[in-house]
Amino acid sequence: MLSVFSSAPIVCTGGALSAVDTDLLIVPWFEDDPPGVAGLDGASGGEVARALTAKEFQAKTYEMFLAPISDRSWRATRLALIGGGAGERGSALVRKLATAAGLAARQRRVARAAFVVRGAGDPLELAQAVAEGLTLAEFYGGSYKTTDPPPAAPPAWTVAVVDASEEAVASASAAVARGRILGECSNMARELANEPGNTLTPREFAKRTAALASDAGVRVEILDETEIEKLGMGLLLGVARGSVEPPRVIVFHYDPPGAPDRPVLGLVGKGVTFDTGGISIKPAEKMEQMKDDMAGGAAVACAMRAIALLKAPIRVIGVVPATENMPGGRAIKPGDVLKSASGKTVEVINTDAEGRLILGDGLWYARQLGATHLVDVATLTGAVVVALGKITSGIFGAPDTWVDRVRRVADRAGDRMWPMPLFDEYRDQIKSDIADMVNTGGRAAGSITAAMFLKEFTGDLPWAHLDIAGTAWAEEAKPYLPKGPSGVAVRTLANLAFEKFDDRS
Ligand code: BES
Ligand code: MN
Ligand code: ZN
Repeated sequence: MLSVFSSAPIVCTGGALSAVDTDLLIVPWFEDDPPGVAGLDGASGGEVARALTAKEFQAKTYEMFLAPISDRSWRATRLALIGGGAGERGSALVRKLATAAGLAARQRRVARAAFVVRGAGDPLELAQAVAEGLTLAEFYGGSYKTTDPPPAAPPAWTVAVVDASEEAVASASAAVARGRILGECSNMARELANEPGNTLTPREFAKRTAALASDAGVRVEILDETEIEKLGMGLLLGVARGSVEPPRVIVFHYDPPGAPDRPVLGLVGKGVTFDTGGISIKPAEKMEQMKDDMAGGAAVACAMRAIALLKAPIRVIGVVPATENMPGGRAIKPGDVLKSASGKTVEVINTDAEGRLILGDGLWYARQLGATHLVDVATLTGAVVVALGKITSGIFGAPDTWVDRVRRVADRAGDRMWPMPLFDEYRDQIKSDIADMVNTGGRAAGSITAAMFLKEFTGDLPWAHLDIAGTAWAEEAKPYLPKGPSGVAVRTLANLAFEKFDDRS
């Protein structure tokens, strides 16, 4: 049955380059490559050597050079070199090259494009990264435009591994299929983050994420306000009070037959479908951006889909508390005290620090459901953008072994993260005179004190917190990432479910 979620598979070929049947043959070209690589110069009638000598093409990263293929014994009609620069050439770079070239191919309305796997490291990891990168190039964020011409269909993609054995092509094909899934799930998260607050209410967010996850075989429960109340999730309910839209908790269960009892990976994502700041209201400037304050929740939901489609061997639980953060007659006020489901009390001194409130209840619930290892993902603080900018997510948590593991997985997935400290001394900044803690620690170390707050709800489980406030949305286009939602953390979370970690993580 054709599902709304299906898209064309990516073909994987393994013969000679001259046999790749395509309209645009895309080849990564590194600065120290001699002109003779892979017979491309000859195929282009000397165009490659000419452009290199003339410095028309210098192979700077993401630089592109196009030439016709004049050799009639080649099946491809045009050649595109994409510069790979002079530095690292691992899968993280190759993924980005594939996206950049894929975007260029799309722009040129190419019907069929093939990307040749070149780079350093495991060839399967490279082939998978190429498939991810090409798929990421398919994302279209303009679905509400009615006067622009509709976007052309993306090219039919081929991933070409050169002169490979039959077995090598078979395993590369499997890697390409995995990459396709991870790319698609990233794009789904981007689509959700792109959705405006008026369409993506908490209820609609729950409906859509439930559909995309259950389509892949994930069991999904949607807790409504009555069930949330029964569980005592006073932090989530407190945040939701200002809105006429009721909150939801979206719970995902992936329980593959034969999986061991432990570990159980618990993924928790912030699902604020719009963050006005509440009574501590945000300035009007750029407030529209706060429609993406559910990007962490979308990453969890879409990672759950990927985990099920890729048949991860371990149990995984996803918890996404979803709400709006609105000012209103019933909204919580600065100074109000809320009681969390864990029993801890919080003096809310700033209603704009709502993410940590709902995640507190979310983390508690993931533990309730039996998670043994926790990862949360959230557009949590402006402070992390000050610290790390728009390129790198902050990673926090304990113990270091678990944080390091998540970080290594993120690195390979192409999600840049950098560790931030959680020294006990920071805890003083969230002391309250009347409750167990306040919900903000002031301007100093704002992303760290936010993480310290979350830590209160993790029990003693291994836990990593990803602050994606800077990375969930690209404000400026990059060659490999157009302006808009990035899909950050989807691939990291999905790949984590394939790691072998024991109780000591
Ligand atoms: N959703 C915001 C964080 C955010 C800021 C995400 C900028 C993306 C870009 C979060 O709920 C928030 O408002 N955080 C406050 C916390 C403060 C009140 C302690 C912030 O960072 O200003
Ligand atoms: Mn906020
Ligand atoms: Zn927020």
